Order: sequence, then C-alpha cells, then structure tokens
Amino acid sequence: MSSKPSLLHVAIIMDGNGRWARQRSLPRTAGHKQGIRVTREVVTACGEAGIKYLTLFAFSSENWKRPKAEISALMNLFAQSLQSEIQRLDEKGVCVRFLGQRNAFSEKLCEQIRLAEELTCKNDALFLSIAAGYGGRWDILQAVKDTVGDALRDELVPEDISEEYFTSRLVTGDMPAPDLFIRTGGEQRLSNFLLWQLAYTELYFCDTLWPDFSRDELYRAFESYRARQRRFGLTQEQLA
Ligand code: IPE
Ligand code: IPE
Ligand code: MG
Repeated sequence: MSSKPSLLHVAIIMDGNGRWARQRSLPRTAGHKQGIRVTREVVTACGEAGIKYLTLFAFSSENWKRPKAEISALMNLFAQSLQSEIQRLDEKGVCVRFLGQRNAFSEKLCEQIRLAEELTCKNDALFLSIAAGYGGRWDILQAVKDTVGDALRDELVPEDISEEYFTSRLVTGDMPAPDLFIRTGGEQRLSNFLLWQLAYTELYFCDTLWPDFSRDELYRAFESYRARQRRFGLTQEQLA
C-alpha cells in the first residue's frame, strides 16, 4: 500500500450562492454575502490544515454575461471584503493574488487589488489566489500570445516550448498544479476553470451549496483525497 498523497494545492469552484438564496426567497446577492463568510472560514481552515496554495474561483469570464445588477453587487462585495479582510490576511502571512483579466474591473477595484497584492507579496504562509474575471481558455491564450511574442523576438524556437515552459507562462506559472479540485453546488463540470492545470488533479464534487459549505465538509474532501492513489499513468505495481 502506498503512502497518502501530499496535499499542497487546493482549487475550489465556489458554486451555489444563487440557489441558496432562492431557496430562502432572498435576492441572489444574499447568497453571495453568505458565500463570503464561508470563504473566510475555508481560507482559515486551509491555513490551519497546512495547505500551501488555495485557488478560489470567484468570478468567471462568462459571469460578465449576468444581469448588470448582480455584477455590480458582486464587484461591491469584492471591494468591501478585500477592504475588510486584507489586514487580517496579511497578519496571518497570507500572500493574496488575483488571477484573471482585469480590464473590465473599475479603476478603483484594480487599484485596491494592486495594493492588496503589493502589501502581501512577501508573505508565504499561504498563497491565496482569487480567480476573478478568469477563464481557463483566456489563460491558455494569453500564454500562447506571450510565447509567440518571445518567438517573434527570436528568444525561442518551437523546440523550446516544453510543457514546463508553457505551464510557466500561465497566470499560475509559479505554482504547482492543484492536487485537489473541489466544486460545491452539485454541478459536475469545470466551467472554464484551470483547464490546463487540472490535467491530473483529483476531482471532488459535492451537492452542498457554497453558503452551506463548512470546515467539516472541507475536511471530508481532504479525507477523500487522502484515500486515493494518484497514478499519473503508471500501474499500481509500479507505484508500490
Ligand atoms: C457562484 O454562485 C458565485 C458566482 C458564480 C459569482 P452562483 O451565483 O453561480 O450560484 P448558482 O449556481 O446560481 O446557485
Ligand atoms: C462557475 O460557476 C464560476 C464560479 C463559481 C465563479 P458558474 O455558476 O458560473 O458555472 P455554470 O454557469 O453553472 O457552469
Ligand atoms: Mg453557479
């Protein structure tokens, strides 16, 4: 029997806020607000569990197509929670980073993000990445464009483009690939999250809506992960 797989990087699609609110006849925004409380608990729990990288999907490139009122409520919530949480995160040694296309964010939010990243950039207790305005296809395309740019400047030839090289050009370039992917809310799809990075990640889906998710459920996902054998294409015998 091989030893338990190590758990360094957890990536989560925090889904189900709208349905949670609808079940209570509340506006969808109430679900997002409750979702933020859960996010705070999960970040703390991951830190305590010794997770080194936590990547949270907060807003996808496709979520820009939602009703304007919901988008604006979400942007306000991002700004508010960043303002109220960043000090505490910094004190806990959390390095905060945003992944995604920022040009659609307001200038004010962009500046807030920049300051939060600058404030926490030397921290290394937990690397917390918030994917906002993020799409896996966008990420791959921006890496392709970067790579082509290097080639046009004669800085590389096609043979130089290895998997390692390409991985390094993604917005997650300096992080290991996620070991465990969690999606709450019952849907079993990737919804354009880390498409390249999840190639060998262990997937865990649960029906719990994100605002009902908890530390206990998180630890259940960790337990499920630890009971798995990651083979990466090898045979069981090779791993034993
Ligand atoms: C996830 O919850 C949060 C965002 C996508 C911003 P949803 O808002 O997608 O909630 P459901 O899936 O409609 O319940
Ligand atoms: C994925 O959830 C994005 C986030 C949780 C931020 P969605 O609710 O947007 O995904 P779909 O539309 O159900 O695939
Ligand atoms: Mg959803």
